Amino acid sequence: MKKDFLSLVDIDRHELEGIVSDAMRLKQMKSAGTVHEYLKGKSLGMIFEKASTRTRVSFEVGMTDLGGHALFLNPQDLQLGRGEEIRDTARALARYVDAIMIRAYEHATIEGFAHHSTVPIINGLSNTLHPCQVLADIMTLRERFSDLQDLKLAWIGDGNNVCNSWVLSAALTGMEVVVASPPRYRPKESLVEQARAAGGRIRIVADPEEAAQDADVLYTDIWVSMGDEQERAERLQAFRGYTIDSRLLARASPDAFVMHCLPAHRGEEITDEVMEGPQSIIWDQAENRLHAQKALLVHLIAGGMPSLK
Ligand code: CP
Ligand code: NVA
Repeated sequence: MKKDFLSLVDIDRHELEGIVSDAMRLKQMKSAGTVHEYLKGKSLGMIFEKASTRTRVSFEVGMTDLGGHALFLNPQDLQLGRGEEIRDTARALARYVDAIMIRAYEHATIEGFAHHSTVPIINGLSNTLHPCQVLADIMTLRERFSDLQDLKLAWIGDGNNVCNSWVLSAALTGMEVVVASPPRYRPKESLVEQARAAGGRIRIVADPEEAAQDADVLYTDIWVSMGDEQERAERLQAFRGYTIDSRLLARASPDAFVMHCLPAHRGEEITDEVMEGPQSIIWDQAENRLHAQKALLVHLIAGGMPSLK
């Protein structure tokens, strides 16, 4: 039975622990130059409806590191762009490749692939969720904290796809997730309810200072996500006061870390000073996309890494 990764709710705590621990092992192996071709001869199809730097490169390099191969597929070059149905594309591609990663506007597009494909489908970002990002972020925090259970993460700004994934992760990690957003830009209510029903500790507030107070992690993302470009002017207006700057950072725990999934718009959601400051772990997050996704690919395609003797 194939397994998909469309959302963080597709894995349980035990699987999360396994993937994070494998990701850390893979990171060490790469740095030591140890061959780790756990997906030798396997292929990953990658469909991108939207732009990408990190997701595209980390999945492609990840497959190469693992002894496999990745194919970049632009929907405009596929028959999908000329009206071939998802159910037909998904079934045909699944006869060639061992997993498919999709970045799409509509989450339903990715669900459609998952429904019809016989190989694992990975959500590389939709308008609703970005689970691969949060998986890498959890790894990044686990490199610094042995237990995430009592940490407080303050999300400052747009309640977007990355924020929704953080909300859904709360029950898995045990972290408290406090979101400070203008009322119109809160995370999706149905997901907040789903996360709370699963035991997640989530608070939604309007005041960034309230969220940042004593937080262990401050997290933000761009105010204008891909697809929201026509709303740029009103969004810049609505998010005034939601910048992570040194004044807001001073509210957080003195040992707090600052995170951003990238790409950033310096001077909007985060200042240059904070991004380049000593509390920023933004570049580790970007790097860990590679290691976390490699562990995810091995988990989905090969059932995990061989255990340590
Ligand atoms: N964070 C992230 O997914 O970056 P890209 O859009 O560059 O893939
Ligand atoms: N929220 C952003 C994240 C990009 C990685 C977007 O969807 O454009």
